[in-house]
Amino acid sequence: MVFKVSKRIKDIIDRDKKVMITTTREPYPFVVERGDGDFAYDIDGNKFIDFTSFIGVYNMGVNTNRQIREAIKAQVDRLSHSAFLDFHGEPPVAFAEKLLTMFPKGFGKVFFSNSGTEANEAALKLSRIFKQKRLYNIAFYGAFHGRTMGSLSLTAAKVAQKWHFGPYNNTIHVPFAYCYRCPLKLEYPSCGVACADYIVEQPLSHEVAPQEVATIFMEPVQGEGGYIVPPKEFVQKVRKIASEHGIVFVADEVQSGYMRTGKFLALDNFGVEADVYTMAKALGGGVPIGATITRTSLGDIPPGAHANTFGGNFLAIAAANASLDYVKKNQKQLESNARAMGALIMKRLNEMKEKYEIVGDVRGIGLMIGVEFVKSKKTKEFGAEEREAVVKKSFDKGLLLLGCGPSSIRLIPPVTVSKESVTKGMDAFEQAVKEVNGKR
Ligand SMILES: Cc1ncc(COP(=O)(O)O)c(C=O)c1O
Repeated sequence: MVFKVSKRIKDIIDRDKKVMITTTREPYPFVVERGDGDFAYDIDGNKFIDFTSFIGVYNMGVNTNRQIREAIKAQVDRLSHSAFLDFHGEPPVAFAEKLLTMFPKGFGKVFFSNSGTEANEAALKLSRIFKQKRLYNIAFYGAFHGRTMGSLSLTAAKVAQKWHFGPYNNTIHVPFAYCYRCPLKLEYPSCGVACADYIVEQPLSHEVAPQEVATIFMEPVQGEGGYIVPPKEFVQKVRKIASEHGIVFVADEVQSGYMRTGKFLALDNFGVEADVYTMAKALGGGVPIGATITRTSLGDIPPGAHANTFGGNFLAIAAANASLDYVKKNQKQLESNARAMGALIMKRLNEMKEKYEIVGDVRGIGLMIGVEFVKSKKTKEFGAEEREAVVKKSFDKGLLLLGCGPSSIRLIPPVTVSKESVTKGMDAFEQAVKEVNGKR
């Protein structure tokens, strides 16, 4: 396919610019109309292979899951908004019971909200009550936990996201195990994951007492920050630090969870458990929902301390419930597809890394895969323009992609993606990379 911007597309984008507050639009003119499995179509009927899952939401296929659609339709005719934080209702309770079966033993409490940022806000607030008199939080450079003021205080992915809005809550940021560009200028594995020791040796020794720290927030695989996969020992050491000091370890699974890495929880890839998990994005199968899931032993909070209007909304719950039924029924197949299709993409990417100077690093678990572009393999100078050019060229060839970090692209097709779509998508991607690489 060769994409052409039609007058209709141009008009909508112009109208959008007039009335919509500026946010984060991609550098290509995609005006979406509908989706179907591995594909999305624009208003002119152009067909695209989707390697974005619409920002990690359609893990079960782009609007394709019939059970989710039917569940939403059926619920619409009964009741949509249920005022669940004030009145009682069974669907959110039943869904919470079902959701908890996906978590390790000992997880027994759920708070529903509408988004990832709210799920993290709830984790922050609940932890302050679970751990009285602990006023500080620890989060990582490169982290993205949301854009409302509490979760934004934890976020440290891009300056543009935080500029204008400080000062922030009491968060101490520490280096993440970004081994391709080690923040401590060391090499893995000889470093012994010194970046985890840094937490104890620096902030917890010179800045705050460990018993003043309520939470450590971590994305098991950093998402917006550049799809960065830390070594297992790093995550295990951080977990140990939290356990030793009674700090609540919060795993932000908003992007990495819900089968994205082949497992329901990405943290399971690292052999540790969190104390609180947060989820959103794919949880609702396309309908907004957030969830904060806590260890029963952490306790509860007093009435009125935290609530919202739409949490437990029956429509969102119906969608999430149908999606989870699908996951539970097909979990083995989803796991093996994420593993097999992920391996196929990684193989192609590793071959590309050998061939093209601008492909600096490739990394991922399951179908949570990132490619980092550089100007030169030797200098590792960020290839932001190269990344942008590859995203645009891929779009022109019928492939939807999203950037992340300073110069990376995430490859996150639906977890249900077919081999044929992966192959066609990777062919388009490689062609785009080849053309951009050749222009240098
Ligand atoms: C890891 C992570 N946490 C939180 C959020 C915020 O989610 P939302 O945009 O639904 O508020 C995101 C969004 O990209 C995310 O990737």
